[in-house]
Amino acid sequence: MANSQKVPGLENALDDIQSNWGEIKPEIAIICGSGWGGLSEIFTNQKKLDYSSIRGMSRPTVDGHHGILNLCELNDKHVLLFQGRRHYYEGEGWGPVAFPIHLVHALGIKTIFLTNAAGGINESYKVGDLMIINDHLNFIGGNPLIGPVPNAEMPRFPDQSKVYDSSIIKEAHETAKENNIRLKEGVYVALSGPAFETPSEIKAFRILGADAVGMSTVPEAMLANCYGIKTFALSCISNMASGISNEKLSHQDVEEASNLALPKMQKLILSLLRNIL
Ligand code: HPA
Repeated sequence: MANSQKVPGLENALDDIQSNWGEIKPEIAIICGSGWGGLSEIFTNQKKLDYSSIRGMSRPTVDGHHGILNLCELNDKHVLLFQGRRHYYEGEGWGPVAFPIHLVHALGIKTIFLTNAAGGINESYKVGDLMIINDHLNFIGGNPLIGPVPNAEMPRFPDQSKVYDSSIIKEAHETAKENNIRLKEGVYVALSGPAFETPSEIKAFRILGADAVGMSTVPEAMLANCYGIKTFALSCISNMASGISNEKLSHQDVEEASNLALPKMQKLILSLLRNIL
């Protein structure tokens, strides 16, 4: 059995959540990436807690990541929505990136949706397309699973042959069809950032099989997979990757393109949740 060590601060975070909201039992957690914060608008009933009032949760340092935890209701079930995430490039190591996933597991949540904005590498993609992540390449240059495992049941050498849940992927395609939403499926390559890539790097990742590129999601998916949490991940193609389009890349453009696609993102997620909750 692997050496285990409890996640520092997790019990304090659970206490802070409980003292505000009482005992909660959400069915699904959603982590909102760049441009996805507006997902909170699809829920009528919601309670909000600033990350700063939950010990162990830290405020994101990136524009467009609000740092608010929302307890939302749909079909009489609860959904826990994280508006904003931490990234490895923010420079504080894996702790802040991993903490929400530890929290999701500690709350007994069995399904997680991860969302992000990504650069399109596959030339058949268009800005504003949504892409289901069906596998990933971890080129972050680090691994969030290094170190003691957080509990004795977690495998030291986790299998990663099916990180992304195939039944939710199938349901998402059906939901997209019902709603006339163009939905792609592909491989996401994660890099540390914060610089965008060079055209040569993108050419290399295309040869390796990547369809989209970004700076997040993979660490969270890897950890959720270790915990046995069903994982579904969705990218909004906010720009074509470096060298595929001649446009210069900026975070502001990434946010703007995701905001334009927001109604479609909201429609897909709401219908998918209605179908699976
Ligand atoms: N590269 C890396 N991360 C990104 C991109 C990109 O082109 N677009 C949005 N996030």
